[in-house]
Amino acid sequence: MLAIDGPGGSGKGTVCRLAAAALGWHLLDSGALYRAVAVYAQDQGVDAEDAQALTRLAQSLPVEFVAAEDDTRVMLSGRDVTLDLRSETTGNAASRVAAIPEVRDALLGRQRAFRQSPGLVADGRDMGTVIFPDAQVKIFLTASAGERARRRYKQLLEKGIDANIDRLYSEISERDRRDQERAVAPLKPAPDARLIDTTAMTIEEVVTQVLGIVGDTIGNRRES
Ligand code: C5P
Repeated sequence: MLAIDGPGGSGKGTVCRLAAAALGWHLLDSGALYRAVAVYAQDQGVDAEDAQALTRLAQSLPVEFVAAEDDTRVMLSGRDVTLDLRSETTGNAASRVAAIPEVRDALLGRQRAFRQSPGLVADGRDMGTVIFPDAQVKIFLTASAGERARRRYKQLLEKGIDANIDRLYSEISERDRRDQERAVAPLKPAPDARLIDTTAMTIEEVVTQVLGIVGDTIGNRRES
């Protein structure tokens, strides 16, 4: 299995999706789970500071990932929340929810259940350190905060969403700080992870490098 960690905007999401498709493996977008808890909390009128109530929501999260033609749709209680999940507001709320240790515990089993034959590409912050410490291949993607803000800005404009690059930069820096400084499962490379700085790389270059590392490490061995 392949565990890819790193901050938002490092290219992780796209790289994981393309790598999973190339390998024919399953894909776990663990950030979507934290985002789904944040959206569910808002739907249910649960206070963002109420750790106990948020933990209960995470334990019973009615989330489903449904493969669609173009992408995976995320359903929450049967409602398609794919777009809601991608918003900056949800991302920021998710990073607060994700700092609660009991919420992380509640999502642990659900994440590990994704590890099925013929293999898994897991995208997150703690895939190589906490959730799948025995993953055969661990990669940590980074990019400068400025470049990540620029990428996010471009993505939002492409979706027709108005954005302010300075605000994106400060939100990205704030989210990095929260993810890196939290007591439980902070964002950091596993000691045995390969680091790739994607600042000056295209997505295709990153995917090629990642698949090269998988090939060198696992070869053509079938694995789960
Ligand atoms: O990767 P994504 O931007 O969807 O993640 C949203 C937030 O969820 C992150 O900022 C992070 O705080 C949290 N997260 C996490 N652990 C993961 C994946 C995401 O704490 N494995």
